[in-house]
Amino acid sequence: MKIAVVGAGNVGTTCTDIIAQRDIVKEIVLLDIKKNLAEGKALDIWQSAPISNYNTRVLGVTNDYMRTTNSQVVVITSGLPRKPGMSRDDLIGTNARIIQSVVSQIIDHSPRAKIIIVSNPLDVMTYAAYRTVIEKGKSPEWASKNVLGMAGVLDTARYRAFLADELGCVPQDIQALLLGGHGDTMVPLPRYTSVSGIPVTELIKEERLTSIIERTKKGGGEIINLLGTSAWYAPGASAAQMVEAIVKDYKRILPCCVLLQGEYDLKEVYLGVPVVLGAQGVEDIIELNLDKGEKELLNTSALHVKEGMNLLDEMKLFQS
Ligand code: LAC
Repeated sequence: MKIAVVGAGNVGTTCTDIIAQRDIVKEIVLLDIKKNLAEGKALDIWQSAPISNYNTRVLGVTNDYMRTTNSQVVVITSGLPRKPGMSRDDLIGTNARIIQSVVSQIIDHSPRAKIIIVSNPLDVMTYAAYRTVIEKGKSPEWASKNVLGMAGVLDTARYRAFLADELGCVPQDIQALLLGGHGDTMVPLPRYTSVSGIPVTELIKEERLTSIIERTKKGGGEIINLLGTSAWYAPGASAAQMVEAIVKDYKRILPCCVLLQGEYDLKEVYLGVPVVLGAQGVEDIIELNLDKGEKELLNTSALHVKEGMNLLDEMKLFQS
């Protein structure tokens, strides 16, 4: 069992470290375009193995895709991160070209890999990866099961952490779900949020809940303002959780960015919804019975993602 992580920046390295610590795969190949970066980070992580008691071999390589051959899951974090004042959409032009090049080389060496995109703007980059694998000869059906994006797990984790702070309870007692794109149009669902089975609306007043939801929507930006660059611990942990669900075939229900083909009355758009994640990738898409207001929010989010997807189409990066 082998996985690859592309991009040895903060998110890729954190994700590698967390997966290694869980000891769930034989080998992780960390790849970066910058000479010696992945080698250095991987060596450092590997040297923690005797202390942290795991056996996963962590190997770093500079742009050597041969070493990623036959990876079961590949996490792609490549691309520029946001700086203060930038929206995720400002990155489309640069990052789409990077995604196209990386995914194309990944598919050449691991034609059956499940591909998890982490690069921003998340939903549009996941679509760019989908278009790339189709251009490499995969069927749209294969692509929609095997190419997915990480956003919902992160956004939900932020929401749960804020709710735990508010209630003074532990985050693991909070169950929650967010839908939609990764950005200010994400759709929190208080109706589907509970604390050890108790609906959150019975524990937190509407006004406070609204402000927690607003903070969640801007959760990535809050960290950028503090650090001058985007977050990595929670994004890395989120991607690692998705990898674990696939590698262990847990069939976990997690919010992931996937291609909608009629679900939620939306078509041909990559958007965050709850899915069953297992060894076959996206094994099922769960459709919730949304009320009118929730549906409107989801449609607005889909429109926003579609605008980004159109910008990508206008770049004419793909022939097919
Ligand atoms: C964030 C970036 C990873 O939300 O999009 O922190």
